[in-house]
Order: sequence, then C-alpha cells, then structure tokens
Amino acid sequence: MDYKLAENKIKKLISNTQEDVLQKIVDFLYENFEKYTWVGIYIVEDGTLVLGPWRGKQATEHTRIPVGKGICGSSAATGKTELISDVNSDNRYLACFVSTKSEIVVPIKKEGHVIAEIDIDSDARDAFNNEDKIFLEKIADMLKEHI
Ligand code: SME
Repeated sequence: MDYKLAENKIKKLISNTQEDVLQKIVDFLYENFEKYTWVGIYIVEDGTLVLGPWRGKQATEHTRIPVGKGICGSSAATGKTELISDVNSDNRYLACFVSTKSEIVVPIKKEGHVIAEIDIDSDARDAFNNEDKIFLEKIADMLKEHI
C-alpha cells in the first residue's frame, strides 16, 4: 500500500477505535505491507521491553527484552530508530525467527522518554528504507497517547 494512504487510514482507524487500538494498528501494518513479516509492539516497563500486541506466523520467545539488549533494547536506550538491512551482520541481533533477514525498530516517545516501540521483521533482506522509517515514525507519534 502507498505510505500516504496508509498514514491517512491509520489516522482514521485510531480516531474511530475505542478498544484494542494497538492490536488494530499491528494488524493493519501486517495485512497491508507484504514485506512486514512480523509486527509487534513492545511496552517499556521498569527497564524491560514487554511484548504487547503482535501479528505474524510464529510467536517469539523474546517476550521480555532488557533495555540495552538486542536491536530492540538499543533503540529503547538511544530513542533512535534502528534500520538493519542484514540482521545476521549485526552482533546485537537477538534472533527470533530463522527466516528474518532485516528489521526496523521505531521508538514511541512521550515527553522525550521511550515508552514503547514498534518492531518489524522482514524475510526479505534490506526490506526497509527511509520511507518506511518516516512512515513508521509518524505512526509511532500517533500511538503515543494509546500506550
Ligand atoms: N530481533 C529483536 C528481538 C525481537 S524479535 O525480532 C521479535 C532484537 O534483536 O532486539
């Protein structure tokens, strides 16, 4: 799907949804972007990322990740998006699925603090570009009041 169209649809979805907003956004991203093989939202709780809503073919064993560990934990520690074109050449990477080749992690921030993050894996190498980064950072900003 076109990123601008998706952004507008997500904006509407958020304003029209009373319950399970996070799960609905995860579902939307998973269903509309084929290269998004696994989509999840981690919530920061006392220095640990705790897996919230997710969608993908398989569950991950990494349901709790300390801030600072893995690509997810690095993004939570720095407050910056991590865009990894080849997960196997990044030694911070915590493997969840053997099929994953690339990953993007986008922090959700409120008043300068990381309160959650969007984590997306892809089975395609180099699946994410600057457009995905800009798009997902906008979605992260829309979600900050719903964590
Ligand atoms: N690969 C992540 C762990 C989460 S799974 O991708 C769902 C990491 O390195 O932090």
